[in-house]
Amino acid sequence: MSSIVDEIKNRCNIVDVIGRYVSLKRSGSGYMGLCPFHGEKTPSFSVSEQKQFYYCFGCGQSGDVIRFVEKIENVDFMTAVRRLSEQYGINMDDYGFRHEGRNSAIYEMNRIAALFYLHQLADRPNPGRDYIMGRGLDLKTITRFGIGYAPDGWHSLLEHMTAKGYEPAQLVRAGLISSSGGRYYDKFRDRVMFPIINTRGKVIGFGGRILSDGQPKYLNTPESPVFSKRNHLFGLNLTRKHIAEQDAAIIVEGYMDMVSLYQHGITNVVATLGTALTTNQCNILSRYTRNVILSYDADQAGRNAALRGLEVIRTAGLNARVLHVTDGKDPDEYVRKYGRDAFLELTRQALPYADYRLAHVRALYDLSTQQGRIEYIKAAAAVIRDLDPLEAEFYLKQVAEKEGIPEGALRREIAVRPSENRRRTTTGEPLNPDRSVPVQGTAGTGVQKTLIGLILKNPDLIPSTMKYAYVFTDPAYYRIAGVLFQMYTEEGRLDLIQAADTLSAEDAALLMSLSDSEVYQHDTEKLWKECTGRIKISELKRKHRDLENILELLPENDDRTVEIMNQLREIDASVLRLKNDPGSE
Ligand code: CTP
Ligand code: MN
Repeated sequence: MSSIVDEIKNRCNIVDVIGRYVSLKRSGSGYMGLCPFHGEKTPSFSVSEQKQFYYCFGCGQSGDVIRFVEKIENVDFMTAVRRLSEQYGINMDDYGFRHEGRNSAIYEMNRIAALFYLHQLADRPNPGRDYIMGRGLDLKTITRFGIGYAPDGWHSLLEHMTAKGYEPAQLVRAGLISSSGGRYYDKFRDRVMFPIINTRGKVIGFGGRILSDGQPKYLNTPESPVFSKRNHLFGLNLTRKHIAEQDAAIIVEGYMDMVSLYQHGITNVVATLGTALTTNQCNILSRYTRNVILSYDADQAGRNAALRGLEVIRTAGLNARVLHVTDGKDPDEYVRKYGRDAFLELTRQALPYADYRLAHVRALYDLSTQQGRIEYIKAAAAVIRDLDPLEAEFYLKQVAEKEGIPEGALRREIAVRPSENRRRTTTGEPLNPDRSVPVQGTAGTGVQKTLIGLILKNPDLIPSTMKYAYVFTDPAYYRIAGVLFQMYTEEGRLDLIQAADTLSAEDAALLMSLSDSEVYQHDTEKLWKECTGRIKISELKRKHRDLENILELLPENDDRTVEIMNQLREIDASVLRLKNDPGSE
């Protein structure tokens, strides 16, 4: 697949683009016009359709179509790329770029909506407040989580947002407003609203709970690049520091479980958003802790979900344990009835991976019959077969003793089919698929990779690196650089984990691998100079090529030939100086 830059150069004819700013007249094999970059009365600005570049004989400006848009609109490289893509109907998504600008508009709409819902709940009596307080939440918790109320009308939020200048179509894209038959109406009506906030404090979506027994019980913001349930954990914005401090995370299934445990002082909790636990969610948690306790509902669905979750956690290289509340439906009901200490006791008794799976298979068979016992032991052997050698040895002895069978018999059963999917993750190196992603596209991305590695080691290089932002043309490096630049500009520092949280799992893995690199340990300033020196050299070489193109286009014995030859010599000299001393130019 060609790069977005190639695609733009193919699709956006430079004569067409420049023709919108400059009146061009045919002249020889190209076009001439008045230079838009310096005042002049006789045309010295030439555009070559054949070579797709421009050159001003007066002021020396030259470049391709993207460069022209950069200069004329006074925007950076990627903005120029984006504008041209939009004008020529090129979908940047196809080239690995997401719409960052559109995302920030969605965050802002969500933030305003969250405030609206919050005021609806807080400012006057309303059914939402009655409902949520009836479920035992106090005002402090409600405020902490920013829980709100979506009123019962069809246009409450719509009117609030349009009064603030938002278009209905935008609000539909944010998932706040629905439309049908050309009419727009509030998506969330008469629901308690849980804002879902990422670790950078952006409202990415909402979960709205119905006040009655109606359906659906929870209505969520539709999936989008901004809101993807698989890649977020509810509550992590508030609890990640507790998770790190306590070196353990409790994962629950529901919004209410999370909020309720938190109110009761169990603060190392997150909730999945009504989907099965994903590897990405485990990777996110692994930045804070390697110890995960699943606390799912006590019913069969909760047990099945726990079994699946256990495998996901283990494959992600984390230590997994499971608990189910011993009374009530879910952690919320349990903690309300029995309190904090009783729940903490349950977490202490949570079963490790192997114990949970063995207990699970044991419950599947009728152990009062010989056939049942044999079936159970075969199933237990299959579980043990999956364990690390050391773990396996331990559980083999345990099961043999408990069931009163010779160890040797069980050992032979385990050896029957050597496992193909033995996992080595609980003790050894984390087998984390997303983190082992190799750094992609080594050709041409070297400079981008090095610069990011350098600014991670020495964030104070960021302001001067931002001048070279145009080199980040690889989509992944572009996104990473964008997040780092923005964070540094806004906060004056870099928080690697926060940056990783903002990125997709793949990008975060790439970021982590760059920050791990030993290469950039020493003398970051010197390396940075070498790196930017290389960038300057390639810029000069590009200019050199342009001038050579011009030379070919000039009529023989043209006055300007000498001038261009001089410029070429100057460029050669600059390149030489840069090669000797990268910081010189
Ligand atoms: N969920 C959802 N959509 C639904 C039902 C559930 O998104 N129609 C998600 C929600 O995130 C919910 C979680 O799945 O919190 C667990 O669902 P469930 O156990 O049914 O609800 P509870 O959390 O127990 O909800 P409540 O206590 O409010 O009844
Ligand atoms: Mn519940």
